[in-house]
Amino acid sequence: MGKSSKDKRDAYYRLAKEEGWRARSAYKLLQLDEEFNLFEGVTRVVDLCAAPGSWSQVLSRVLIKGEKFGRAGWQDKQKNMRDYVLGGGEKKEMEEGKEEVDVEGEGEKKVDSTPKLTPREGIRIVAIDLQPMSPLEGVTTMRADITHPSTIPLMLKALDPDTYSPSSPLNSSPVDLVISDGAPDVTGLHDLDIYVQSQLLWAALNLALCVLKPGGKFVAKIFRGKDVDLLFAQLKIVFERVRVAKPRSSRASSIEAFVVCEGFCPPEGFMASLERPLGAGTVLPEPVREESTSSDAKKPEKKVTSRVREDGAIEIDLGDETDDEDDVEEGGRRWIAPFLACGDLSAYDSDATYHLPKDRVSLDPVQPPTAPPYKRALEMRKLAGGAYGKTKGRAEKAAS
Ligand SMILES: C[S@@+](CC[C@H](N)C(=O)[O-])C[C@H]1O[C@@H](n2cnc3c(N)ncnc32)[C@H](O)[C@@H]1O
Repeated sequence: MGKSSKDKRDAYYRLAKEEGWRARSAYKLLQLDEEFNLFEGVTRVVDLCAAPGSWSQVLSRVLIKGEKFGRAGWQDKQKNMRDYVLGGGEKKEMEEGKEEVDVEGEGEKKVDSTPKLTPREGIRIVAIDLQPMSPLEGVTTMRADITHPSTIPLMLKALDPDTYSPSSPLNSSPVDLVISDGAPDVTGLHDLDIYVQSQLLWAALNLALCVLKPGGKFVAKIFRGKDVDLLFAQLKIVFERVRVAKPRSSRASSIEAFVVCEGFCPPEGFMASLERPLGAGTVLPEPVREESTSSDAKKPEKKVTSRVREDGAIEIDLGDETDDEDDVEEGGRRWIAPFLACGDLSAYDSDATYHLPKDRVSLDPVQPPTAPPYKRALEMRKLAGGAYGKTKGRAEKAAS
């Protein structure tokens, strides 16, 4: 597929190049954040399977530079404009250090409406991938395998180079958020791809269990295969809230989705360990459920609450958040994770093809892969004289 054709068929691929993101995946994280407010109160993050680095770019721009995207960015802009237009705005802008600029010297004064940046203090971001990654401002990048136990101490050292002690590597729980967009090289054999993906997910989860702070968050890519319920049930034991989300930038035709787990709360006595990692066969202590004494005991009534959000919208919650009983199938054995589609409905549809303006120039990717797995294959093909040596053969024939 040519660049232009891909630009048409994949609006997020095109948008990523226009907006300076290394990969279209950036929009998945931004849309997840928009729905779940992932970065609230977060200062220490580990980005697993991070290359080429668009998720790390999001982290760097939101946490280190203090930029706002999506609804938050739009609200900020609106607020600036409102403050300016409604009395005293001009004075206030000047007080905040914003300058009035003379547009092209024509005497027409305009306020610079770029939103104020709110960088956070003490940010630590570590990004890990098998592939090398080009450097990013404020992000420590590591080339390592997330399935290997030796990666944890390396990662902890990268997070706290001055205070890390190898004698008690797991004594600290220094991370607020672990994100993982890990994906194997897809073979096209569905079951195999789902299996390998699930192994990556377990590796990411085990790593997260070793380093998350109580109350921490874990977000990871999943393929919704047939045994995905088991995963949700296990996640529910170590996190207060587990939801599955499909951002609008993730193609509807793909089985990809993301688990968003909040409120890390390991059961009493649970010790995370990479030597005895959590996996499909692990039996974890189950949360105690109170047995109902009478068979016709009535279900507690749902608490319907409403609140007015900052942006004026009224949010109605149809049930107590801690009341997960509704999501448990009869018999109480199977817990069903709530599924949410996220991303603004007015945002691009990742499955649609869009017309491009005639005079449009197709851009190159922001960050071409530094050492893609196919590089060696291309080199070998070149040595053999072109596409599987066919070109060489033809060229020799033509010369003779
Ligand atoms: C879809 S890409 C991630 C894209 C990234 N989130 C971004 O925004 O640029 C999946 C990545 O998983 C990495 N990966 C796969 N298996 C891995 C492993 N065992 N350890 C570390 N990284 C792995 C691949 O090298 C690949 O770069």
